[in-house]
Amino acid sequence: MTVAMQPRERAAEGPASAGPAGVTGTAPTGPTPQRVRMPRHLLSASDLDRATAEHVLSTAQRIEQAISGREVRKLPTLRGRTVVNLFFEDSTRTRISFEVAAKRLSADVINFSAKGSSVSKGESLKDTAWTLQAMGADAVVCRHSSSGAPQQLSAWVDGHVINAGDGTHEHPTQALLDAYTLRRHLGGLDGRRVVVVGDVLHSRVARSNVLLLSTLGAEVTLVAPPTLLPVGVTNWPALVSYDLDSALVGADAVMMLRVQRERMSGAFFPTEREYSRSYGLDGRRRDLIAEHGIVLHPGPMNRGMEITPQVADGPGSVIVEQVANGVTVRMAVLYLLLSGETDAAMGAGL
Ligand code: CP
Repeated sequence: MTVAMQPRERAAEGPASAGPAGVTGTAPTGPTPQRVRMPRHLLSASDLDRATAEHVLSTAQRIEQAISGREVRKLPTLRGRTVVNLFFEDSTRTRISFEVAAKRLSADVINFSAKGSSVSKGESLKDTAWTLQAMGADAVVCRHSSSGAPQQLSAWVDGHVINAGDGTHEHPTQALLDAYTLRRHLGGLDGRRVVVVGDVLHSRVARSNVLLLSTLGAEVTLVAPPTLLPVGVTNWPALVSYDLDSALVGADAVMMLRVQRERMSGAFFPTEREYSRSYGLDGRRRDLIAEHGIVLHPGPMNRGMEITPQVADGPGSVIVEQVANGVTVRMAVLYLLLSGETDAAMGAGL
């Protein structure tokens, strides 16, 4: 089955603003944004219209150019600002990369995890939010197992809230780093075919990527067994298919999703072996995508289930690069949210 979807509505554009002064380097690839509207919080990929998303990616590129080759890869941009990493759910990549990103911008960083905090004694999210508020957090990076928790948090704190993954809802900075990685390899996303494969039902990565990549002009195809597609997927700005082999032919990129066994309460497929046979990425399937095509995975991977180790570590795989790009993109997000577009901010450090 292949179903064409309606393009989603684009967010209205706001007033014009200049790029960060003092940021040097060659012009970013893709169209130069003319009008950007950075939201107060980054809760969903749909908070970014095309111009603003392009601006975040271009800013990340300029940051990368600005710090590459430096012995000390640190900018004074957010000196005196406090970023709180508020993680109620396990994370390796996102938590560490937000910490590295904030520190490279010279912010003070507080790492909070539910384990070992008063949350384990029954403290509510609201009381935790008020505590952060009292401590003067300028930004709160929130991961939570409940969809909507970062949005709720944004109503209780004055600082900027960044969704670092909420339940099965969204993971907007993952989508931004994926778009950044795709742009680096493909030169632009307009008309590019990206195939997203696997546990779409439980995947916040898939939701955010469909929103962002379609905003940036890519054609996204979701491939999954019917049991792992959410109700209403036909309203997403994506194509849907059950047949992985045919979807992969000539694709510019394939993004494998982790099978989220911890969120599964029923039998969504007969056996892991059966899942791998129908929806796993092995070398034969890797060879179906375009010669210039790339393989992405947000991590953590179930090696041998949704992807073979040979493909994960083989030619065309950009999985490790995605992690590195996560730091740069999160620096751009923190910078744009926290320092606005003031001339002094970046200029002081570049
Ligand atoms: N991709 C991702 O969100 O990984 P972590 O769960 O390790 O942060």
